[in-house]
Amino acid sequence: MISLDKITKTFGAAHAVSEVSFSVPEGAFLVLLGPSGCGKSTMLRMLAGLDQPTSGTMHFGDTLVADGAAGLALPPANRGTGLVFQSYALWPHMTVAGNIEWPLKVAKLSAAERKNRVLDAMRMLGIEMLANRYPGEISGGQQQRVALARMIAPRPKVMLFDEPLSNLDATLRVEMRFELLKVHAATGATAVYVTHDQVEAMTMATHVAVMNKGRIEQFDAPDRLLSEPSSAFVAGFVGTPPANLIPIEEGKWFGTMADPLLRGHSGHAMVRAEQIEITSNDDVRAFDAVLAEVAPMAGRYLVTGLVHGHRITAVSNHAVNRSAKLCFRLPGAPSAIFDNEGKRIL
Ligand SMILES: Nc1ncnc2c1ncn2[C@@H]1O[C@H](COP(=O)(O)OP(=O)(O)OP(=O)(O)O)[C@@H](O)[C@H]1O
Ligand SMILES: [Mg+2]
Repeated sequence: MISLDKITKTFGAAHAVSEVSFSVPEGAFLVLLGPSGCGKSTMLRMLAGLDQPTSGTMHFGDTLVADGAAGLALPPANRGTGLVFQSYALWPHMTVAGNIEWPLKVAKLSAAERKNRVLDAMRMLGIEMLANRYPGEISGGQQQRVALARMIAPRPKVMLFDEPLSNLDATLRVEMRFELLKVHAATGATAVYVTHDQVEAMTMATHVAVMNKGRIEQFDAPDRLLSEPSSAFVAGFVGTPPANLIPIEEGKWFGTMADPLLRGHSGHAMVRAEQIEITSNDDVRAFDAVLAEVAPMAGRYLVTGLVHGHRITAVSNHAVNRSAKLCFRLPGAPSAIFDNEGKRIL
């Protein structure tokens, strides 16, 4: 449905997006995931038609919507896209129903059709009772529901979201994640969802594009990002908690303990928290750690300690005794090894 070929966007000499290529099928829920400044919003704005690529092509189905080099771009209104931002941007002088109806008026739908669609959209988001209130008279969570209703009322083929939940509190975020997935499933539209929150990505996505410095680090299914991260960046970014990236030098853990399983490599070894055993015994695979913090999680504890100055996190079934000696025992083999540039080599 959406297919990008070497999409690049430069602002002067700066590359906001560099040679991004991917395609997702109709009905996919694609998440663009990455840290601040990596080019997520720029990507989304190009999909919406608010920005033009400097080079590269973009198709929605068989339709060429943008060709950077040729200077061709379909205007936003002709793309069949709907957009929701972090800030809800509702018209303060229009009621909830009026806000949802607005894009339908712009599209010149008949009054009867508009009424139907506004009702449908309000029902889908459970906000019928707010129809006659003004944005200033409803909560932030309700405002975001109105923004979603306004986006789906024109029945877009492609739904675009730029961090739509980041202004909501934690409980509302979870609730709205569920609402969003419901809307997505009910409409059958293709969704592109921008976030820097890897939990949102892992729970909602059918496909994830992990971005870093304007490039795609990995384009994959969510579970593959955990099982087969293609770079140190991905390994250190996704997962709850993210994987430990333990420095290795010429086949030595922390540059100190030689291990044939590291095969002489230098860079970082990936070890998940659940692979590290917490002990108080020194043995050949255990490293002394200085306790940094203990966080309860789902009946277990995430125990973080410093080993040779590096933060390492392990999972424990028991709370650790703060006064006892703490050692982390490493597993036999790391799950992956990355070179000093972050590229996966094992
Ligand atoms: N209009 C612009 N002019 C110049 N530089 C820009 C412009 N828009 C974005 N950039 C730059 O492009 C890069 C990517 O910005 P973008 O807004 O896409 O990042 P982002 O991933 O959405 O970040 P965040 O998570 O903070 O919203 C940044 O370095 C940014 O400063
Ligand atoms: Mg952004």
